[in-house]
Amino acid sequence: MNSFIESIDFFKGNNPEDIAAKYGTPLYVYSEDVIRQHMEAVSKVITKYDYTANYSVKANTNLEILKIALSEGINCDAMSMGELMMLKKAGFPSDRIFFVPNNVPDEEFEYAIDNDIVVSLDSLSQLEKYGQLVAKKKSGYECAVRINPGVGAGHSEKVVTGGKKTKFGIAEADIPKIHEVIKKYGLKLVGINQHIGSQFLDPQPYLDAVENLLRIARGFKDLKFVDFGGGYGIPYHKLDDEAPYPMEDFKARLLPILDAFVEDYGYAPLFKSEPGRFCIAEGGIILGRVNAVKENYGRTYAGTDVGMNTLIRPAMYDSYHDIEVLRNGKAVARENMIEQNISGQICESGDLIVKDRMLPEIKEGDLVAVLDAGAYGYSMASTYNTRPRPAEVLICSDGSVKVIRRRETYEDLMALF
Ligand SMILES: Cc1ncc(COP(=O)(O)O)c(C=O)c1O
Repeated sequence: MNSFIESIDFFKGNNPEDIAAKYGTPLYVYSEDVIRQHMEAVSKVITKYDYTANYSVKANTNLEILKIALSEGINCDAMSMGELMMLKKAGFPSDRIFFVPNNVPDEEFEYAIDNDIVVSLDSLSQLEKYGQLVAKKKSGYECAVRINPGVGAGHSEKVVTGGKKTKFGIAEADIPKIHEVIKKYGLKLVGINQHIGSQFLDPQPYLDAVENLLRIARGFKDLKFVDFGGGYGIPYHKLDDEAPYPMEDFKARLLPILDAFVEDYGYAPLFKSEPGRFCIAEGGIILGRVNAVKENYGRTYAGTDVGMNTLIRPAMYDSYHDIEVLRNGKAVARENMIEQNISGQICESGDLIVKDRMLPEIKEGDLVAVLDAGAYGYSMASTYNTRPRPAEVLICSDGSVKVIRRRETYEDLMALF
């Protein structure tokens, strides 16, 4: 594919050059249409039984994006009190929020209990702490536990969250101890959840993990829900025609596993999943300006304003993001490609968005569009080197452009002192 942006008219007729001129760079740009399409797709993973998709907001907590999730009718999971607060601010009722934290102090549990938000406990010690609070407050009895099924999957060791070498969840061998703590504090275990990892395009490990969690679920009575976690991948190599997550095939293979469980268990609890990346990654890009081009010992560097402070994924996980080079608002054809690097403005040799990649020749003044940056982009951005974080704009379904987070200013950075 020559240009993803142009193939789907990402900018809805707006010229990216005009948008960059008006709102500045680096700039996160989101497409309401693309986000809605993905949120709709995850809301239909299971149709035969009661099911909710919980958008995992850690991928992107922009308030307007949460409001899109709210209007799409999907629920959300949160990892921190800050994420819970954002969800309340976006208008989510408590029964559409699931709190899945780890290693939190009383204050965060209290916020959840006071707001009637169901919590999943990630360790026996957190379960104990939660039990003590519930006994004191005399509310919040219904809770869940996060099971670590002993297996994981993902694009990098750093995003594998299930398995014997990760900090997450409670091991199956400790289930008898879960029952003890539940009994001790009169808690009611209404759900179990897991999350094995992130960004897999082959559904098999997830299906195996579903089957395994349902095997474990059979040992718990009267569950109201079973939550299989997120992790559905997206095609980060879309310009090379990488296939998307095989959603239809996945759904067809998931159903018999659920049917077998429901038959054994006697009824169907509410099934849940927790996709983050799938909902939002493809709906966001970053526009960056090329400020310098140079050759260093035979290597070519396009020096831009998009660095590891804007998007940490390449430096942190060696992640690959497709790049489109835009000149005068149009994608430069992917022909006569030469090997280039794209760097940012940060004082780190790892500050490379692209390493040794064949791309159309990049010139000073061009824009680069970093694709698939909607998930774990802004939400992991930093102010390293005292660079304010970018603005975020939304290309609305009607073609209008809306600022959904203003650019951070130097005054914002100074205000903390
Ligand atoms: C508990 C939990 N649920 C869901 C997710 C979302 O994962 P993904 O964005 O890969 O779908 C994560 C990601 O780290 C997670 O930790």
